[in-house]
Amino acid sequence: MKMSVLYYTRTGHSRQMAEQIVRGMVEQPGVEARAFSIDQVDEDFVRDSRCVILGTPTYFASTAAEVKTWLDTSAKKLGLAGKLGGAFATEDYLHGGGDLAIQSILVHMMVLGMLVYSGGGSFGPPVIHLGPAALGGHEAEYEELFRLYGSRMASKALELFSQS
Ligand SMILES: Cc1cc2nc3c(=O)[nH]c(=O)nc-3n(C[C@H](O)[C@H](O)[C@H](O)COP(=O)(O)O)c2cc1C
Repeated sequence: MKMSVLYYTRTGHSRQMAEQIVRGMVEQPGVEARAFSIDQVDEDFVRDSRCVILGTPTYFASTAAEVKTWLDTSAKKLGLAGKLGGAFATEDYLHGGGDLAIQSILVHMMVLGMLVYSGGGSFGPPVIHLGPAALGGHEAEYEELFRLYGSRMASKALELFSQS
């Protein structure tokens, strides 16, 4: 089953975390996962993906404008409706608004008709509330959380879509 992790990055933190999510996804049997910058998306691969995750740096306690523009203008052609969606963020400050950036993406995904999921508390600790957020400059401390998130999202997608 194909799965995609899309991201925008200016200084590389969000790409690094996207790669950890991919690492977690491919731990699940039969999953082929790839990460793409939003300006270099393999559209066929994303269209074939059952799970699509989108990540952003936090800018002024929200998504980067580039991500909002991409959602407004490019996402629709990828046929995201009905796919499992999730979101992540990177930020410089613990209360810098990463959750708000994630929430904004999840709301957009719902409007597009995606099924949104984070795992929440269903797997026990670590509880991932809306999606994972990492502090820029501390990536190594967050690698395990992002890998776990990828594995949990992939497992839910397999549960939902393996029969179809
Ligand atoms: C224009 C701008 C606004 C930012 N606003 C915030 C913010 O509101 N809260 C925060 O915690 N970090 C903020 N940051 C820091 C970035 O979110 C953080 O460095 C992020 O990890 C960068 O991601 P990237 O390396 O993928 O580009 C801001 C950075 C820039 C350039």
